[in-house]
Amino acid sequence: MEVTGGAYCHEPTDQVLARSVRSGNVSVMKLVLLAGTNRPESNTRKVVAQLEAIYKDLGYKPTVVDLAELPAEIFSPSSYAAKPASFARFNDAILASDGLHVVTPEYNGGMPGVLKYFIDMLKFPESFEHRPVAFTGIAAGVWGALRPVEQLQAVFGYRNAHLYPERVFIPAVHGHLGASGGITTPEILARLKAQAAGFAAFVQTIK
Ligand SMILES: Cc1cc2nc3c(=O)[nH]c(=O)nc-3n(C[C@H](O)[C@H](O)[C@H](O)COP(=O)(O)O)c2cc1C
Repeated sequence: MEVTGGAYCHEPTDQVLARSVRSGNVSVMKLVLLAGTNRPESNTRKVVAQLEAIYKDLGYKPTVVDLAELPAEIFSPSSYAAKPASFARFNDAILASDGLHVVTPEYNGGMPGVLKYFIDMLKFPESFEHRPVAFTGIAAGVWGALRPVEQLQAVFGYRNAHLYPERVFIPAVHGHLGASGGITTPEILARLKAQAAGFAAFVQTIK
């Protein structure tokens, strides 16, 4: 079924998605949420959990890929030539996805090293070629991970991914997270919801 909507036509995204859910089209769309750090207890993972709940409310069942779960073997220099079997599920999730939503923190003015390393370990070129990708950035500082998101846009642009243009930046992230890990600031929650709905419509359009 062809679906248009969101930022690309005049019909509101939620109406487009509601129609898609009714038709059963939405449930077959495979979305991956990528937590772009392996830092234990990261705020990135909390924002991923928030986005997962948002996508579920929209009728999707996203797969979470968490870099904190990467097997130690992938960090062996031999992995450039031969990937360990334990890495297969990570690459398979990316390859099976219709759309990839990356959440990145800012580390030293850039993306975490482990996120770039993960990208370098994935199959070339099929992991990102023509794959729709969205970006959410989080940071302790005031720029809300603008720098790592723009670095990622350059990398994914190089890899011929379809870049979803609506990005979300969350500055001073600690002040927007509640005790249970959810986003407590209504305006930021609204931006994440709009991004998720818009990205889902974008993926449907390309699919
Ligand atoms: C190694 C490291 C470097 C960081 N560098 C920056 C930075 O350059 N700018 C910034 O705003 N926050 C920086 N932070 C703070 C993170 O943005 C903050 O921890 C935030 O919660 C997101 O990261 P997390 O997912 O690891 O929690 C850094 C944190 C770490 C662990």
